[in-house]
Amino acid sequence: MSLLVSVFGFAIVAFVAVRLTRRRSANEPPVVGGNWPILGHAVYLALHPSEFIAKCREEYGDIFTLATPGRYITIICSDKAREIIRLPDRKSSFHHATDELMRVNSLFGNIFEPGSYHFPLIRTRLTAMIDELNLVMNREMRRIIARFLEQHAGKSCIPGAIVGQDSYTDSAHCLDHDSIPDIRAFVEAVISETVGIALVGEQCAKDSALLDSCRHLAHDFTTVMSASEFLPSFIAKRAPAIMRHRNNFFRVIIPEVLRRREMMDNLPEQFKRPADFLQVLVESRSKDGDLRAPEDIALRLMHSVFASVHTTVMTCTQTLCDVVGRQTVRERLEQEQIDYAKVNGSVTTRAALDDMPFLDAVVRESMRFSNLSFNVVRRAMTDITLRDGTFIPEGRVCAVSAHGVNCDYKAYGETHNAYLPERHLESPIAKASSAGPAYVIFGGGSHVCPGRFFAINQIKLLVSILLREYEIRTESGKRPKNVSHLIDVVPLPEKVIMKRRAMPLA
Ligand code: HEM
Repeated sequence: MSLLVSVFGFAIVAFVAVRLTRRRSANEPPVVGGNWPILGHAVYLALHPSEFIAKCREEYGDIFTLATPGRYITIICSDKAREIIRLPDRKSSFHHATDELMRVNSLFGNIFEPGSYHFPLIRTRLTAMIDELNLVMNREMRRIIARFLEQHAGKSCIPGAIVGQDSYTDSAHCLDHDSIPDIRAFVEAVISETVGIALVGEQCAKDSALLDSCRHLAHDFTTVMSASEFLPSFIAKRAPAIMRHRNNFFRVIIPEVLRRREMMDNLPEQFKRPADFLQVLVESRSKDGDLRAPEDIALRLMHSVFASVHTTVMTCTQTLCDVVGRQTVRERLEQEQIDYAKVNGSVTTRAALDDMPFLDAVVRESMRFSNLSFNVVRRAMTDITLRDGTFIPEGRVCAVSAHGVNCDYKAYGETHNAYLPERHLESPIAKASSAGPAYVIFGGGSHVCPGRFFAINQIKLLVSILLREYEIRTESGKRPKNVSHLIDVVPLPEKVIMKRRAMPLA
């Protein structure tokens, strides 16, 4: 055993030494000093990523290099990011970077090659389905909100499946004050379940273990991926957390794919086509016209959940913190809901939600202002020389500092570090879902997030339902403070008062 440990330890040290002792070229981004043996800057990155990056930026400028176990990572905090992001894959690869950092391909199965067919389907078919999905989401969000209040405050009314106005008539105690202790837990409950339903479908989401996987999969995978840096993939793949989620997806999704196909073939007139992403995959065919294998569909759904739930939860949490903690913002949003409803009624279609400019500006500003430390990564597949002469050597992983780019002084001027949704109202193209030079929350270039329209719609729908149906604010009257936690920025728990309105605003 001790021999095994020594061999393994030696292998790690040799691996780290070989990776980090390459000769450096002129014009390479400077390597930040003060790194620890073997661990490099990983400790600072793990403990206080945002603060650490800000400090490095002050000292070394907009682009610099950190050492982490086994590799250098170049951090980009300015518009240079756009240049790297938009280079073609053969020069600057998204998939190689995510595979190197998170082993996405090896842990999920080979989902990038020969073609990530579910990515374009998310962008086109899932986006086109938003209005149909909103009917279900509207009902489900209300149900989950009420259930959450019931569990956490103990005196809410549960509207059950009753949609809309009916739920207001059933009990006077609905008007009592309720409160939730932690907005992040609240958003996680609502968003993970509703995104889960949209992807795997209402029928499969009845399986509580699968729904639990939708909620925890991204966190568990990321933990295993970072903890298993030096383990071969075939061992990492068998980590209990990975196996549990994989089993849940395979156990529920595969029979459902077969059931739907059988219905479609044999009883087409009785088959009511479900509006969910699973159905899109069930019907999808390869270039040769073959239906996709059920196991492959289960893996792609699992990857879609991985890419969508945690990201949407985190960004929605930040948006909601700005709504409940900033009175002037909230009042203006409430007025917008009332004004919209006067003209158009209380619809929550995608077009309706997109036709609320201040809501869109708030979502965009919340995502610009408080977001992940790093959200976009690329790996240099050749030596790259940027327009200003900066040299990135082949094999280097580059990570974009979301805060650095989204709050860049050059783009936002004096108010770059202020929360001002109004700034986006002046531009017809600065929409919450549109990627752009100083807004890289959804990445950019050919890998720009295909789920962004769906995600923004989810966030707007939840905010809109809450504003219409609840008086909602932090007890302190302040916006919850953010802290960085690994690559996430999370609000500290803060009590939020939710009082059900006697009559909805819209
Ligand atoms: C607010 C929520 C979300 C955020 C902040 C977000 C962010 C991102 C980012 C930064 C990327 C990498 C882009 C790049 O490197 O250029 C990405 C890629 C991706 N996202 Fe999202 N995402 C969100 C929601 C979703 C949802 C809801 C889905 C699916 C339903 C999704 C599916 C994907 C997929 C499949 C990719 C890989 C695209 C490719 O490689 O071409 N995302 N996302």
